[in-house]
Amino acid sequence: MFGNRRLTRGWLIAALIITLLAGIVPATVCAAPPATSASPQHVVLTWEGDPRTTQTIAWQTSAPDTGGRVQYAEVTLARAFPETAATAEARAELLPAAGGSMVVHWATLTGLKPGTHYLYRVGDGFGWSEPRSFTTAADRITGFKFLVFGDTQSDRYDLWREVLRQAFAANRDAAFLTVVGDLVEAGQDYDQWDAWFDAAREVIAVIPVMPLTGNHETYTPLWGERSMPTLFTAQFRLPANGPDGLKGQVYSFDYGNVHFVMLDSQAREEARFVPDMLERQKAWLEKDLAASDKLWKVVFFHKPPYHSKTARSNDDVRTAFVPIIDRYRADIVFNGHEHVYARTFPLREGAVATGPAEGTVYVTTGRGGAKAHGDMHANDWHAVYYNPRNEPNYLVATVTDSRLSVAVFTLGGDLIDSWQIEKGR
Ligand SMILES: [Fe+2]
Repeated sequence: MFGNRRLTRGWLIAALIITLLAGIVPATVCAAPPATSASPQHVVLTWEGDPRTTQTIAWQTSAPDTGGRVQYAEVTLARAFPETAATAEARAELLPAAGGSMVVHWATLTGLKPGTHYLYRVGDGFGWSEPRSFTTAADRITGFKFLVFGDTQSDRYDLWREVLRQAFAANRDAAFLTVVGDLVEAGQDYDQWDAWFDAAREVIAVIPVMPLTGNHETYTPLWGERSMPTLFTAQFRLPANGPDGLKGQVYSFDYGNVHFVMLDSQAREEARFVPDMLERQKAWLEKDLAASDKLWKVVFFHKPPYHSKTARSNDDVRTAFVPIIDRYRADIVFNGHEHVYARTFPLREGAVATGPAEGTVYVTTGRGGAKAHGDMHANDWHAVYYNPRNEPNYLVATVTDSRLSVAVFTLGGDLIDSWQIEKGR
């Protein structure tokens, strides 16, 4: 990678060795690893546009920005990276990071063929990352899988690495994954994202991640201070079709016959910046769901309106979002925040509905990281309740023309829950 820089670095290392031999610089100075890297890191796939014909790719380098570009080509049997590869120029944004700024580069490849394997690499035109591949969504999808992870926030990200690796190893055909908010403990602390991306790197460079924000994405390193989740929106390049002031963190997209909607439940944390954020989302959600003709409608937001913690009922979110979800009969709502796995009966207007066709199933996803909570309990609306105190868990959702099924596993592979909704056109 980055042959010209390797040469420069080689000269620097040689100079340092000579200096050390001369006894001028103490050895401890050289033992410290570099805080940042000039090589592409944190390569991540998302979609800003149509999953059938576009692919968004982001990565990071240390500042200054020396330009970024993506080379891509259809996968062939050739061993070398294809000479016929197309090039897309990247845009860039500077990120504040401890020990120096980082640069986020991103490019959206357009005009891709549906249902096609592509090889890609990222770089600055002089050196390139290792080639990786992605697959565009087919024009006519008969079935697909997506993976859902609960809060991954941790003081250690090894369990996030393990559960993601395990889920992907068992579901290499998954189209994409998502995390239901609280990806990191303090979302405005770059170091935590550094650890999160490193833990996820084997998977998120191969299938897209379409995450949403939680309350912890608004936390700054100065505990108690809140911010808009600007590190989240800078690092994940997501559809910009949300309401004004919330673009990139509130969005919707279609994959196959499913309409996915990602909302932001952090009214309290973001009140200083967007005081009417729930009102803006209500108006946008109403229009967004009304405009969709997809068979399945799946909604995500972080704080559960049907909760497990007595002293935390999230009434503001419930009042804002649930009547619209009821009106448009969303099939499933995935939430996070509580680190338990809890599935409700189909609900409508707060009461148990006669069946899934008449209501919405609310799923609190569990945990994708090290953090577990003890002060939770099942409520009357819960059909299944499980607190993953011992190990993280993950969800596998499988969609066909007439069925949406969900299976929930522990990291160790035990089945926690399995259920499905049937539907005909
Ligand atoms: Fe949370």
